[in-house]
Amino acid sequence: MNKSKHQICAIVAMGDNFEIGFNGDLIWHIKEDLKRFKSLTMGHPIIMGRKTRESLPKALPGRTNIVITRNPNYTAPDSLIAHSLEEAIEIAKKAEGSDKIFIIGGGQIYEEAFPLLDSLEITHVYDSPYDVDTFFPEVTMDDWELTAKTDMFETPDGLRYDFESFSRIIK
Ligand SMILES: NC(=O)c1ccc[n+]([C@@H]2O[C@H](COP(=O)([O-])OP(=O)(O)OC[C@H]3O[C@@H](n4cnc5c(N)ncnc54)[C@H](OP(=O)(O)O)[C@@H]3O)[C@@H](O)[C@H]2O)c1
Repeated sequence: MNKSKHQICAIVAMGDNFEIGFNGDLIWHIKEDLKRFKSLTMGHPIIMGRKTRESLPKALPGRTNIVITRNPNYTAPDSLIAHSLEEAIEIAKKAEGSDKIFIIGGGQIYEEAFPLLDSLEITHVYDSPYDVDTFFPEVTMDDWELTAKTDMFETPDGLRYDFESFSRIIK
């Protein structure tokens, strides 16, 4: 684990094949997943790509929302704008709750941030039958240690999921 005073954590809901999205939206809307997302990220800065920001109805309250875009004129209500991942992280370090900085997606931003991540908070959805077009980078057990895993839960429509926490193995 990086001993920096700013831990960087990706929080993501993914299927068995690292799938995370379809057609600009989430694949699943699992109430308990959204609750857990809220409780873990509350009070901390959250970094997201412009497309993920636009999939949300508004900035997420109680957290510094930082949106990454290449568009120099882009604005979004109640959000800070960065033009690179590095700039977003520098902004996050100065925000309230910066002991933990959350990368909240989507695919492009997870991919770019992946080498910098100290930990992962994953909602693992099993045997998802839905269409997908966006993915999280592959998580291999050579590089990541499972530090916590909950029991398996099931949604009212029969989707099974659990919550898994990982720390990067320092080599
Ligand atoms: N399952 C989950 O937990 C989860 C979480 C979040 C999102 N998602 C899903 O992921 C999908 C969205 O992901 P995505 O990969 O399409 O988009 P994204 O990562 O949310 O946003 C991509 C945008 O970020 C900006 N960007 C990326 N790299 C940049 C860089 N180096 N410098 C400056 N700007 C940069 C660009 O914005 P501009 O085009 O404005 O320049 C780019 O178009 C959706 O389906 C969403 O629902 C799933």
